[in-house]
Amino acid sequence: MKITITGTGYVGLVTGTCLAEIGHQITCFDIDKEKISLLNEGISPIYEPGLGELIQRNIDSGRLTFSSNPVEAYSNAECIFIAVGTPANEDGSANLSFLEAAAIQIAEQIKKDIIVVIKSTVPVGTNERIGSIIQERVPPNIKIEMVSNPEFLREGTAIHDTFHGDRIVIGANTEEAGKQIGNIYEPLHLPIVHTDIRSAEMIKYASNSFLALKISFINEIANLCEKIGADIDQVSAGVGLDNRIGKKFLNAGIGFGGSCFPKDIHALNYLAKEFDYDFKILQSVIDVNYRQKDLLFYKAKEHFGSLAGKRTTILGLTFKPNTDDIREAASLRIIQDLLLEGAVVTVFDPVAMPKVEKLFGDKISFAVSSEQALVDAEAAFILTEWDEIKSIKLKEIKDKMTEPIIFDGRNCFSLEETKKYGIRYYSIGRPVVQ
Ligand code: UDX
Repeated sequence: MKITITGTGYVGLVTGTCLAEIGHQITCFDIDKEKISLLNEGISPIYEPGLGELIQRNIDSGRLTFSSNPVEAYSNAECIFIAVGTPANEDGSANLSFLEAAAIQIAEQIKKDIIVVIKSTVPVGTNERIGSIIQERVPPNIKIEMVSNPEFLREGTAIHDTFHGDRIVIGANTEEAGKQIGNIYEPLHLPIVHTDIRSAEMIKYASNSFLALKISFINEIANLCEKIGADIDQVSAGVGLDNRIGKKFLNAGIGFGGSCFPKDIHALNYLAKEFDYDFKILQSVIDVNYRQKDLLFYKAKEHFGSLAGKRTTILGLTFKPNTDDIREAASLRIIQDLLLEGAVVTVFDPVAMPKVEKLFGDKISFAVSSEQALVDAEAAFILTEWDEIKSIKLKEIKDKMTEPIIFDGRNCFSLEETKKYGIRYYSIGRPVVQ
């Protein structure tokens, strides 16, 4: 099928490239000309393992093209997927301005009946609204059909998730439209859930909110474990073996970040309020996550009394490994906290340092390796569980730091090992190694 994907962010670019890989003729459209010219050279503007190679392969096969020209992108499309960003407004609601702008641009170009699929995460009712925006602007003989097809891919494993997802959700008003979009995904052989449009929109918010709830819940259990002398790793393992609960998303840490969970739970909370519903659990998930993010800073403050003038090191800046994304990352809060206390901050991350430099400039120092970052440090904070950070030798930490003290937000090391090397070790939900 000839498909145009609007928006070349994580969702749009990965979806477009993977749909080209399974045989469709894809045009990825973006209003950002710079991004499009990079893509035309086969360069991915985002850091996503495996994506660059897949883009190049599909450009070479002639199935994947990029354009910032709406006439070229939309006029011959048999189907249009919208995957533009829906960032959070100040009040937590979803900002739909990119989506509305895309809808108007689409309406100006289409000449025949068409299905418009919204992949962006949007509040319930948005597909209907966008459908009206387009329908009002096209001649009355042209029929626009909306389909909601939310995306569940994770950054860092986006390609794997597209080919091996748990399900594809398709919300449509007519069986025919749902079937046509289902056919696009047929080569993936994944379970397809057909629903009405509003339910599909809700499935995305409910899924992300439930996963966020799991994380905040295990973080609360972890905090309690610290107080009562239990070990969260053992507790999580025991709890996760119950099939009704499951092992996944039970890793305690410094809270969830990224472009999806924080934005989506705020948007759902806002939506609930609009409908006069007090979503108590969701508000708690938000509150717990907020508190969890600078928990390590408070542990360090309690340990040292004052952090003024202390040489601190932060290992890992992204909200999780295998991405360059720092949106809502705990590192940003902790750097700010440390600077406010007058600490000296050195950071290391395998990929995200240029992004962090844009935010903090020369207020902090950037090391070329985790080893270099540890030299003469008086406190080390581990905030992202990158493989190269998890595999640092404890002996190296002991030798390089002035006084070896680690504040680990990802439970990367065993308590026995840190004890063996005489490292003071604060982690999440486990006893302190003194
Ligand atoms: C998430 C959803 O998983 C995905 O389905 C949706 O489409 C987009 O949002 P992503 O944000 O890429 O994906 O990352 P994910 O791997 O889900 O992790 C989100 C955050 O939760 C990270 O900060 C991670 O460190 C944290 N997390 C995850 C935990 O703290 N503990 C866990 O057990 C799992």
